[in-house]
Amino acid sequence: MSGVTLKYLKKTYNPGTKDAFYAVKGIDLEIRDKEFMVLVGPSGCGKSTTLRMIAGLEEASSGDLCIGDRIVNDVLPKNRGVAMVFQNYALYPHMTVADNMAFGLKLRKTPKAEIQQRVDEAADILGLTSMLNRKPKALSGGQRQRVALGRAIVRKPDVFLFDEPLSNLDAKMRVQMRAEISKLHARLNATMIYVTHDQTEAMTMGDRICVMRDGEIMQVDEPINIYQNPANMFTAGFIGLPQMNFLHGSVLEADGGYYFVSQAAGVDRLELTARLGEIARGHLGKPLVLGVRPEHFSACEADDPQAIHARVEVGEPLGAESFIHLSVANGDKLVVRLVGIVQSNIGQSLSVKPNLDEVHLYDAESELRLEAPCVVA
Ligand SMILES: Nc1ncnc2c1ncn2[C@@H]1O[C@H](COP(=O)(O)OP(=O)(O)OP(=O)(O)O)[C@@H](O)[C@H]1O
Ligand SMILES: [Mg+2]
Repeated sequence: MSGVTLKYLKKTYNPGTKDAFYAVKGIDLEIRDKEFMVLVGPSGCGKSTTLRMIAGLEEASSGDLCIGDRIVNDVLPKNRGVAMVFQNYALYPHMTVADNMAFGLKLRKTPKAEIQQRVDEAADILGLTSMLNRKPKALSGGQRQRVALGRAIVRKPDVFLFDEPLSNLDAKMRVQMRAEISKLHARLNATMIYVTHDQTEAMTMGDRICVMRDGEIMQVDEPINIYQNPANMFTAGFIGLPQMNFLHGSVLEADGGYYFVSQAAGVDRLELTARLGEIARGHLGKPLVLGVRPEHFSACEADDPQAIHARVEVGEPLGAESFIHLSVANGDKLVVRLVGIVQSNIGQSLSVKPNLDEVHLYDAESELRLEAPCVVA
């Protein structure tokens, strides 16, 4: 059993000085045994710091770090049962592929025959068998990254740690290696913690995703849940491309129904569904944000009572879908996704309406998603 548990884990760089920096601010996270957990967030949010604390390359300022049922805060990196793969591969240029992979095992005085067997096995898994005698400079970026993976695999760690391992590769190779690492996870059946700022990697690779911001965790959940039910505006805006649209306004009660009103969003009066009305009932008149993903808009007639009136700023027909960038009355922007090739002209008026079964309401101040009130029987 090698889950990884972080308990109120903190990292302060230069503590007690004027340069003190709170990089990780007391995070709790439980990564299950054999889980593929992705840590994702913008640059500087503390992903690498968290991973390096797990690896033992960085000392935690406070809190506990458990691997399996051991507290490992004071355990040396080499005794933690983890192997880390870095963005820059960190291969030894003067050593062959085989020697690069074997290096860590040699240091540990692993018997020669076993080293040979583990290297051959890893090379087979990674398709490197024919390249074992080459030096790194005779390999492509993707092949070098595979050697770095191989070096981790031969160690047979309980936990693999990846820090942006694919960011030096070109787009096509990234897609290929993404699939290979997912397959590797299935094959090796090990716990993997994977850091990236690329939300496509997070969505496609993770059993669960942990979204971080400024040293804190914003949400932990399965990818689809994160996408469909982002708990706060940060997660809502970070996961999804193009990002979710935020329409600022408020909800009023009128004519026995609830309406979202916002001149800023080009919305005169948007009649809410019973579900949204129930959610908004306790927040009437307060500044709220309606979060609508680009694919949850559809084109409609200008006189549709739910229409948002906008002008086309730019159209991006991609083939299977088209992204239309719009501006509404006061200059606010919207991006809508329409199916198929939709030709549009700059400046043209376009009316769109949101699918209110799929949208969320957020409190503009706390940026948290509003929940339906609990019904007490
Ligand atoms: N040795 C250090 N001394 C002071 N501050 C540091 C040190 N190392 C990292 N930091 C700061 O801690 C914060 C978190 O850094 P970290 O490397 O964990 O970010 P990250 O989420 O991995 O970002 P990126 O996506 O750019 O790799 C950053 O603001 C960084 O400047
Ligand atoms: Mg980093």
